[in-house]
Amino acid sequence: MSERTLVILKPDAVQRAIAAEILSRFERRGLRIVALGLLKVDRAMAERHYAVHKGKFFYDELVKTITASPVIAAVLEGPNAIAVVRAMVGATRPHEAAPGSIRGDYALVGLRNLVHASDALETAASEIALWFPDGIVSYERGIDRWISTDKAPS
Ligand code: CMP
Repeated sequence: MSERTLVILKPDAVQRAIAAEILSRFERRGLRIVALGLLKVDRAMAERHYAVHKGKFFYDELVKTITASPVIAAVLEGPNAIAVVRAMVGATRPHEAAPGSIRGDYALVGLRNLVHASDALETAASEIALWFPDGIVSYERGIDRWISTDKAPS
């Protein structure tokens, strides 16, 4: 089933100049970029995005970190996009992330784990609405018939 998911290349990815490299992994996998932007996150936005983590021991550092420097946010679309992207990103705590995953290849600690990715359909819908209130751009790529379908080419 085609899904959309929100990905945030967090300040550590932008500061380390590997944001485009990470984004290109998703693009090469076959996912379609349907929204993209670089922005500085303010405290109100960070608190809305991370509301579910309020009260946890890492919450304050989490909010301070994502507001410290610009992020690149994207919406990616494709079959099973949510699970595919989560698997590519790897475990939340980078020391548990498998080699070959983004965190397993590039990250060491939880608050420098480079990428946020939606974890479920409902979360993806609310995160996409929060980060891209003006909506996404729907379009087709000719190549999708060689990537995103099991149907025999005609
Ligand atoms: P993210 O996907 O942005 O969503 C919540 C973030 O909280 C997560 O990535 C990590 O950066 C951070 N996080 C979650 N669990 C822990 C933890 N146990 N220790 C430190 N940071 C965490």
